[in-house]
Amino acid sequence: MLNRQGRPTQAGEAAAEVHETFTGNRALQQIEPLIFEIGHHETTGVDIDEPAPFKSRLGKHARKGEIGLPGLSEPETMRHYVRLSQKNYGIDTGLFPLGSCTMKHNARLNEKVARLPGFSDVHPLQPTSTVPGALDVMLELARYLMTLTGMPAVALSPKAGAHGEACGMMAIKAAIAAKGEGATRTVVLVPESAHGTNPATAALIGFSVKAVPARPDGTVAVEDVKALLGPDVAAIMLTNPNTCGIFEPQIVEIAAAMHEAGAYFYCDGANFNAIVGKARPGDLGVDAMHINLHKTFSTPHGGGGPGAGPVVLSERLAPYAPVPFIHVEGGKSRLVEHKADAPEGSDPFGRMTAFHGQMGMYVRALAYMLSHGADGMKQASEDAVLNANYIRAGLADLMSLPFPDHPSMHEALFDDEWLKGTGVTTLDFAKAMIDEGYHPMTVYFPLVVHGAMLIEPTESESKASLDLFIATLRDLAIAAKGNDKTRFTAAPHHAPMRRLDETRAARQPVLKWEKPAPVKEAAE
Ligand SMILES: Cc1ncc(COP(=O)(O)O)c(C=O)c1O
Repeated sequence: MLNRQGRPTQAGEAAAEVHETFTGNRALQQIEPLIFEIGHHETTGVDIDEPAPFKSRLGKHARKGEIGLPGLSEPETMRHYVRLSQKNYGIDTGLFPLGSCTMKHNARLNEKVARLPGFSDVHPLQPTSTVPGALDVMLELARYLMTLTGMPAVALSPKAGAHGEACGMMAIKAAIAAKGEGATRTVVLVPESAHGTNPATAALIGFSVKAVPARPDGTVAVEDVKALLGPDVAAIMLTNPNTCGIFEPQIVEIAAAMHEAGAYFYCDGANFNAIVGKARPGDLGVDAMHINLHKTFSTPHGGGGPGAGPVVLSERLAPYAPVPFIHVEGGKSRLVEHKADAPEGSDPFGRMTAFHGQMGMYVRALAYMLSHGADGMKQASEDAVLNANYIRAGLADLMSLPFPDHPSMHEALFDDEWLKGTGVTTLDFAKAMIDEGYHPMTVYFPLVVHGAMLIEPTESESKASLDLFIATLRDLAIAAKGNDKTRFTAAPHHAPMRRLDETRAARQPVLKWEKPAPVKEAAE
């Protein structure tokens, strides 16, 4: 059955179940076609004067006809984008429990500061003499990052966590090559519980990957690392707190074992939000660590462009930091843009980005740091851990914990043992959360836990918001163990789209809009 807009009615929904509306809309849930489907190239929201006659220099490259961009009036344009925005779940819509992603509130103060023209209008090709303030922001952010991590150097330019991993591993590769061991140290150790970007990064940089087994308690044992160490090992990539939400108890011993074997310790700092102000990675023996500013320092994920994933480096790796960087000498700072201009003792491995990194994110992160202060950032870490453990305690009698003996850090991890025999899977449970108005938690990650459900509330949530979330999950858990299977297996019932064929979407992605053939008169 097609609705008035010629679209199938809400997929798979029995007409008897929900009254189908004439428009296809359901009150505030408005169907919104693609702009190509509703726009017309002869329509425009603005009047533009015909250009004065001119002689085209494009020759045979000149456009032959209309390119058919869709046009809408201004009110139609506003409605289109506002409606689209309403289909999106964001941190401003509700609690966003995605574990490992740290979806914390993006403070409006940070947005306001980032929009100041002095920051938002600078151009990367401006002469540096015209942007001393921007350079000061970068220096100050670098100072905070080095202080919080206890590390002597930082490369600011990487644009995300995974990009930071690449930067850190390239610095390690350069350091190994400088010691003449480039041909022999070719192996990187990665725990089984690691985020997929870790082995992918190591492989991309040209290393081969050896997996470190996960202990039954979700942590990495120094004996297992030592058993894999040899003259062929370049580094370990270890996340701390790890992806099971546990602080690695043997991290100092693991770092020492790596150094003793002549190898390096790359720490995945995606979970730094749990320990800022409490522990400094530099004190734990870390050589390189990326920091996802969009997680720990509250910059928006995406953020209107690339994010920022600065990498802090130890004394041993600092000389290999990529250009560009700001060099301070005798109280004066200068931007080093090219390897040839690098100060003595510095041997940059190259560059990660065309320009200097994501200025908008630097400003937001620094605004977060300055507005919180040292005590505020420490409290944010404590509250993030408290909130995760509050959720864990609120659900532990109904849902099963794979690692009950370790306290959780900033995220609470459940497995699907408690769903055994119910006919409901982790995926069904996650989809039912959508009907309740929540974005699902991270599911099926980390891979070492069967049917994993990883919940990270962050420090931004109030007790009232956590209580409602816990009560909702308790209600769902009781229903899953009861008889109400359709609440799960057919969920989501109330989302604009029902359950998607994710395999088909991944294997046969439709990447280009094709003008559909005209719709025949509505079928019954
Ligand atoms: C543990 C871990 N490492 C690395 C990354 C990659 O970070 P990004 O998404 O910023 O590239 C993530 C992202 O969620 C992560 O959770």
